[in-house]
Amino acid sequence: MKNLEILAVDNAAYQNILTRTSIRNFKDQEVPEDLKSALLHAGMSAPSGVNKQPWEFILIDDHEILKRLSESLPYAKMTAQAPIAIVVCGNSERFLDGDDSTLWVQDLSAASENILLAAHAFGLGAVWTCLYPHQDRMKYVCEILNIPENMIPFNLIPIGYPSKVHTPIDKWHPDRVHLNKF
Ligand SMILES: Cc1cc2nc3c(=O)[nH]c(=O)nc-3n(C[C@H](O)[C@H](O)[C@H](O)COP(=O)(O)O)c2cc1C
Repeated sequence: MKNLEILAVDNAAYQNILTRTSIRNFKDQEVPEDLKSALLHAGMSAPSGVNKQPWEFILIDDHEILKRLSESLPYAKMTAQAPIAIVVCGNSERFLDGDDSTLWVQDLSAASENILLAAHAFGLGAVWTCLYPHQDRMKYVCEILNIPENMIPFNLIPIGYPSKVHTPIDKWHPDRVHLNKF
């Protein structure tokens, strides 16, 4: 599309979105307590269908538990290095019915992205690692974290100070934008 161009908008929130990358290497440095609750607050500030807020969050700061999780989850090995991780869970008692019964996935995705963006804004790094819908991964995490049956572990987000500098990749594709009709 010709009439859409990248604008160098000087806005901190916008630049934070554009420069976030997945971080999988962490320094041996603690995350301050106020930032831990700020990350969770960011997650809880997400939009959700019918404002159901169908999420629960497990904050993990115990190194032994982080290590056990990393040993069970091949795509989340970096968890062993991270000072903290957040497991975003869906509370099935707050899921909607009928055609809206899977909206919780979108709600939890919005909450997860808020956590990633808040982490980046605080100079932390984070990566979304996939649990749902992989039954084997969900089972391990439920066992390790004692998650009750009515909760669905959705993803695991290891968080810490990045040990390497990451250059964000520009994902702007004007050819994927369609004006007024496809
Ligand atoms: C639904 C979803 C599942 C993902 N699962 C994993 C995962 O299991 N392990 C991992 O290292 N990264 C995972 N990622 C991170 C992606 O690999 C990453 O977002 C993608 O490569 C783009 O890179 P960026 O986040 O740096 O922009 C996942 C991301 C999403 C949104």
